[in-house]
Amino acid sequence: MAVRRPLVVGNWKMNGLLADGVARVRDLCTRVVAEPPPCDVLVCPPATLIAPVAEALRGSPVLWGGQDCHAEDKGAFTGDVAVAMLADLGCRAVIVGHSERRRDHGETDAIVCAKAAAAHRAGLIAIVCVGESLADRDAGCSEAVVGGQVSGSLPQGASGANTVIAYEPVWAIGTGRIASAEQIAAMHRHLRGLVRARIGCGAGDMRLLYGGSVSAANAAEILRIAEVDGALVGGASLKINDFLAICRSCVAA
Ligand code: 13P
Repeated sequence: MAVRRPLVVGNWKMNGLLADGVARVRDLCTRVVAEPPPCDVLVCPPATLIAPVAEALRGSPVLWGGQDCHAEDKGAFTGDVAVAMLADLGCRAVIVGHSERRRDHGETDAIVCAKAAAAHRAGLIAIVCVGESLADRDAGCSEAVVGGQVSGSLPQGASGANTVIAYEPVWAIGTGRIASAEQIAAMHRHLRGLVRARIGCGAGDMRLLYGGSVSAANAAEILRIAEVDGALVGGASLKINDFLAICRSCVAA
């Protein structure tokens, strides 16, 4: 049976200025070094803070990554960030296809797939986000929607070494409304089956994260669910006590 080391990712979204962002990762790093949690820890600050965060974390066990990237390697794309730029700053991963980008920037599965392929070209882990809307869930088509997202968003060559899937039901993001343990377990079982059908042997190596209102209070219950290999954390990742409590709730692989 595959042994997957849990992964907890802090997605800061559009939050943080220089002083508080750097102070937050310094605090996190000191405490992770003093008492290592049973998981990989990755922070994804906004693009403006990646360089100073990298400087603060270089050589530490805490990893850092981007929240988005462009599918092209360089060129006339005002305001966008290339994967090579992220890799240049020591990023290990990049989030692609977050539902906020699918919603606000019209990102389709094809765009997400191209971004994930770009991440792989640059040697970055693509954290591919999927998740159904409340209307999808109410209509009973959550698994079909997520299945379509997975098949459309994973590029050729996706493997457990270069790809993580984050299941984030849109209705659970930032709402305090958490999916039930049964709903999470069912979707993660479904995801594992999809990945197995897609990449065959090695499917057991791909980490599947849950995201959506994960907190210090509910993390232990979520992280003990079979096939949940960690969490993608938004709001609670801005509070180091809470974020660390989530990391410490992981069940060691
Ligand atoms: P919250 O943890 O704030 O619900 O955000 C989840 C999320 O979107 C992480 O990517």
